[in-house]
Amino acid sequence: MRKPLIAANWKMFKTPAEAVAFTDAFIPLVAAQHHADIVLCPATTSLSATIEATRNTNVHIGAQNMHWLDNGAYTGETSPLMLTAIGATHVLIGHSERRQYFNETDETVNLKLKAALAHNLIPIVCVGEQLAEREAEVTAEVLQRQVSAALTDINPARATPIVFAYEPVWAIGTGRTATPQIAEEAHKIVRAQIAVSLGAELAASIRILYGGSVKPDNAASLYAVADIDGALVGGASLDPTSFAQIVINSVA
Ligand code: PGA
Repeated sequence: MRKPLIAANWKMFKTPAEAVAFTDAFIPLVAAQHHADIVLCPATTSLSATIEATRNTNVHIGAQNMHWLDNGAYTGETSPLMLTAIGATHVLIGHSERRQYFNETDETVNLKLKAALAHNLIPIVCVGEQLAEREAEVTAEVLQRQVSAALTDINPARATPIVFAYEPVWAIGTGRTATPQIAEEAHKIVRAQIAVSLGAELAASIRILYGGSVKPDNAASLYAVADIDGALVGGASLDPTSFAQIVINSVA
């Protein structure tokens, strides 16, 4: 009942020409894959080109970040209004690299989540513990805090589109993937906290993706975990064949 969602996070990679070369190769590889929602999140400067290149296909385009206000004196920022105006449909919120390097906090994640919902952007909210937190055995507390802060004052009636991504920080870009057991345990904690914030019915329908060194050869075993509803993929999403294989391997 939860349709898988497989999202590519290209981070600070690919010019518009490189992004379109990717979509040209990628679209035919996944044209028959209707079991999952497929989303590419290019850098801001490649959003328009990829939106044009994927028009009338089953591939959707999202931003990697946004401000929560529509307009203002915020040099360098992009607003939800600007993203919807060019046809973006999704947005990543609270990626650990934004939390780590760009002062993203639980509070700004909450503001951005509210703004995304107000603008009909599908938000993919990233949560996850750092290595030191896992070693200190506070993973559950960290996830509960991040999820409950993200969902503060969110109207359950508007919450259906929300997607979460559990990304253990120690697994991002390190080649160290969480085992299916570790991921399952974390996803259960995230889903239980969603239930506390939004109710059991919504918690059962909201998708929770796994992210952190997802590759074509581990996608199927991760996806086999009942509580994993898709993937957020960094490094392995930069190559069209590899990302297409991850999409194809995410069949239940
Ligand atoms: P990775 O990145 O797949 O390269 O580990 C995942 C992410 O940061 O979303």
